[in-house]
Amino acid sequence: MNKNVVSDAVKRRLPRYYRFLSVLQEEKVERISSEELSKRMGVTASQIRQDLNNFGGFGQQGYGYNVDKLKSELGRILGLDTAHNIIIIGAGNLGQALANYSNFQTRGLIVKGIFDIREDLIGKKAGDLTVMPMEALEDFIKENNISIATLAIPKEPAPTVAAMLYSYGIRAFWNFAHVDLDLPEDAVSENVHLSDSLMQLTYWLNNG
Ligand code: NAI
Repeated sequence: MNKNVVSDAVKRRLPRYYRFLSVLQEEKVERISSEELSKRMGVTASQIRQDLNNFGGFGQQGYGYNVDKLKSELGRILGLDTAHNIIIIGAGNLGQALANYSNFQTRGLIVKGIFDIREDLIGKKAGDLTVMPMEALEDFIKENNISIATLAIPKEPAPTVAAMLYSYGIRAFWNFAHVDLDLPEDAVSENVHLSDSLMQLTYWLNNG
């Protein structure tokens, strides 16, 4: 797949397709037409066809989509066919909650370690993990083939910590700190803002 030709909007919709296909699989649905899928997802059938055509289509006229096949193809495109090892930086409220959320594993995303600077947190449990000191970070990343770092720390130290992680080889950042990271071109940051999502509701309450 040429990374440059698929629009960000399409890329952002892929996880949603993947999620709906997972539900269909749970319901033992073997195949689905783009029309049926469109009703379930609340998007037009033509958008589904257009989106999936970016990756070669997958559907067959008169048959629709094979759910297992489409899900595994999308999983491959999303990089879920290989396991990704993740670390969490920050073992506060958010870091602990993420460490406790075991559902990532079903997507091949394995949380391997959690780190903090606070002495009183080192050695404490966070889910199945034990909080480690930042001094152990560099060796841990190298020894555990870590590819994604989650930043669950305050915004002030986040850029410095991200730069340090980059120097240890991390190129993918799941950033919860409320600051944009200025990363080199070969790194990517996915910024998560729960409050943005919540504001969709306040907008709806105000304007709906
Ligand atoms: P918290 O205060 O409970 O935990 C932060 C942890 O980061 C603390 O344990 C602290 O010792 C650690 N820390 C601070 N500097 C560090 C460093 N240089 N290296 C390693 N660890 C360090 O805060 P909470 O509630 O867990 O939030 C964490 C961050 O996530 C904050 O920046 C908060 O604003 C943000 N947040 C973002 C959300 C979002 O939707 N984007 C939602 C909730 C929190």
